[in-house]
Amino acid sequence: MHTTADLDCRYRPQWHYSAQRNWLNDPNGLLYSKGVYHLFYQHNPDGDTWGNMSWGHATSVDLLRWDEQPVAIPCDDDEAIYSGSAVVDIHNTSGLGTADNPPLVAIYTSAYTSGSPMAGLQAQSLAYSTDDGATWTKYSGNPVLDRASPDFRDPKVFWYDGDAGSYWVMVAVEAARREVVLYSSPDLLSWEYLSTFGPANATEGVWECPDLFELPVDGDASNTRWVLVVNLSPGGIAGGSGGQYFLGTFDGVTFHSETTVTEGLQADDTRMAEYGWLDWGRDYYAAVSFSNVPGGRRLMIGWMNNWQYAAETPSDGWRSAMSLVREVKLVSRGGRPVLLQEAIDPFEDHATENLALGRQRLEPGLTWLPEEVSGDVLRIDAEFEPGQAGRVGIVLRADPRQGVAPGGFSAGMECTVLAYDPATGELSLDRTESGNVGFHEAFPSVDRVAVPLEDGRIRLRIFVDRCSVEVFAQDGRATITDQIFPADSSTALALLAEGEGANLVSFAVVQ
Ligand code: FRU
Repeated sequence: MHTTADLDCRYRPQWHYSAQRNWLNDPNGLLYSKGVYHLFYQHNPDGDTWGNMSWGHATSVDLLRWDEQPVAIPCDDDEAIYSGSAVVDIHNTSGLGTADNPPLVAIYTSAYTSGSPMAGLQAQSLAYSTDDGATWTKYSGNPVLDRASPDFRDPKVFWYDGDAGSYWVMVAVEAARREVVLYSSPDLLSWEYLSTFGPANATEGVWECPDLFELPVDGDASNTRWVLVVNLSPGGIAGGSGGQYFLGTFDGVTFHSETTVTEGLQADDTRMAEYGWLDWGRDYYAAVSFSNVPGGRRLMIGWMNNWQYAAETPSDGWRSAMSLVREVKLVSRGGRPVLLQEAIDPFEDHATENLALGRQRLEPGLTWLPEEVSGDVLRIDAEFEPGQAGRVGIVLRADPRQGVAPGGFSAGMECTVLAYDPATGELSLDRTESGNVGFHEAFPSVDRVAVPLEDGRIRLRIFVDRCSVEVFAQDGRATITDQIFPADSSTALALLAEGEGANLVSFAVVQ
């Protein structure tokens, strides 16, 4: 166990949830109930690397400020508590609460330890709470669904109400087979097989943490698509862990994909960019959505890390944070539905902008911004017209002592570069010189996404926190999420234009 003195808090984020102490991975049991959002998560209560998997717990009323709660479901001698979901069992179908006090029910994966009679297997189990999530009791009839499989995990459960009837649906994975398996239940206790989806599209790594939900297209309730989220590791678009999604229909039994590009285990790596990706950076994994959110909003959160190097990120005593919460929507673009993501914005109530620039010609090279707007926790909104110039963009978390040379980068200047290249149509986030990158060979990276200009413009919303950059391009049509570990003093910002002919349309910084 670490004492406060062991905690290395240089990179502790302000607006991204991290456990006070010790290790965190996947978000679990995301749920809204009685005015409170619950965030459970994969947690090691006894160490700052993966192990002793238990469900940690935090609560929030605004999805921005989280209060850590006691560990909700601890591991024991027989089982580790792997990822899963939670529901409000409003009609007390499970009988684990009462009609007047319906239970919260968590559906998690029992990963049986070597001491257990089921050693080596993974099956689905329940725990329930009748005191609004404060304490949890494991169901005496666990597991509730067992396929005698070593790789059957990460159940996401929702209430289906459609042409086929009304019942609980579970989506889980046969991870090694790259399959999503669906089951139904009237009461959360007994489950019946429905169907299997996959393998399809990205299949290099194991499939983990699926989700399935329906969204209107352009807000039209009579035109919907179902979104099947499949996280995989490795084999994400940027390398290592990543999240893909399929769009299609769900008839209560089977998910029919309209966006399958390649099928089978030998899916074609050269077509990766054609698949649907939740994020194009390295650090957005195991993303799943909240259940029971008022107004039908679909809110997701991801683990801001990557299994390639998660054990080695430089923050002793605590390790890993969650992404900001994102609202996801479907909109039509070019005649087909696509996913848009918008972050719940920590800076929304900040009435004044620290800096607001209007339309102007961009000087070739670097234009350093005034020191007052430098910082390690901020939001930037920027719109560029690249015109005839080469790359345009923003230099983030730069070391001002190294970078004051007008016009360009000095060799080895510490900074993270977000740039749009009109020649390739790609937005890139380069963290190769972002600070401490040497703790793992896979960490220094340039992550890219193709995004078309709209009316000749690229619009960017960027959230910088102490150890991360999250970029939302063209109103959330594409996102890039990456961790960075710069020096405290690397807080300068600069505009970048390679060559003449680019315009800044607008630029604003809020702290
Ligand atoms: C995904 C994952 C899940 C599993 C959990 C264990 O990151 O591997 O498949 O349930 O983490 O911590």
